Amino acid sequence: MTAERIDGKAFAALLRERVGALATQFEHKAGRKAGLAVVLVGEDPASQVYVRSKHKATVAAGMESFEHRLPADTSEADLLALVEQLNADEAVDGILVQLPLPGHLDDQAVIAAISPDKDVDGFHVTNAGRLAVGQSGFVPCTPLGCMMLLTDRLGDLSGLEAVVIGRSNIVGKPMAQLLLDANATVTIAHSRTKDLPGVVKRADIVVAAVGRAEMVKAEWLKDGATVIDVGINRLPPAEGEEKGRLVGDVDYAGAEGVASAITPVPGGVGPMTIAVLLRNTLVAAYRNAG
Ligand code: GUN
Repeated sequence: MTAERIDGKAFAALLRERVGALATQFEHKAGRKAGLAVVLVGEDPASQVYVRSKHKATVAAGMESFEHRLPADTSEADLLALVEQLNADEAVDGILVQLPLPGHLDDQAVIAAISPDKDVDGFHVTNAGRLAVGQSGFVPCTPLGCMMLLTDRLGDLSGLEAVVIGRSNIVGKPMAQLLLDANATVTIAHSRTKDLPGVVKRADIVVAAVGRAEMVKAEWLKDGATVIDVGINRLPPAEGEEKGRLVGDVDYAGAEGVASAITPVPGGVGPMTIAVLLRNTLVAAYRNAG
């Protein structure tokens, strides 16, 4: 079997287009553009790349992008004051504070300061709680994007065995909640799981979000499984390469021979995250505009 490649890049482009059309409608109705504020503290190179991509995608979708770049030594009080100012700003529908923050700042305290109604990342405990009890709120962008790819491919997930590898608050836990809401039978595996290959073997759906290059092997997979690879890992440069290749958490080349469908890295889950962020911002705009 050669697995079908799940084209997250194409799916994300369609989603961005749809959000763009709705953003235009919002602007006509509300008399202003939907607005996303992104806060970056410090100069982490990967974060700078993400923030630049978010800005470009926001503007391309016909929304207002408010970028706030603060020096690495910004105090927590100053950052919290900015968040408060953005909470009160009627032109700002969504607020995203890029993580990780420099070590002297407390991620959780900063996230807690964001109004849950503007928390388009879905990281605030209020939104995590809403997801846990089945109330509507903001759902973290990466797992929501994974669900869109899964339901597009599989339709009804009811009764399917799903294994999520990784238990982070940003991906693993919300992913498991979403799969459970879709009536899948869900297992969360992690670094202490005994017999990870055995656990993965029973899965119709595997979501890998551990951040370890090519850790999930082809032999672990059930024949015909659908594999969603959230990992983005850079390998050490090979001979003659300046930079190492980007790979996921799954051995793609091997898995292709066993799975029925798999997301590539890059071009799979990654592009979905920003598209869903725009979608969440538009939802926030409609809610905030009443
Ligand atoms: N850092 C890496 N991914 C994300 C994300 O989705 N949101 C935020 N706020 N920070 C991140």
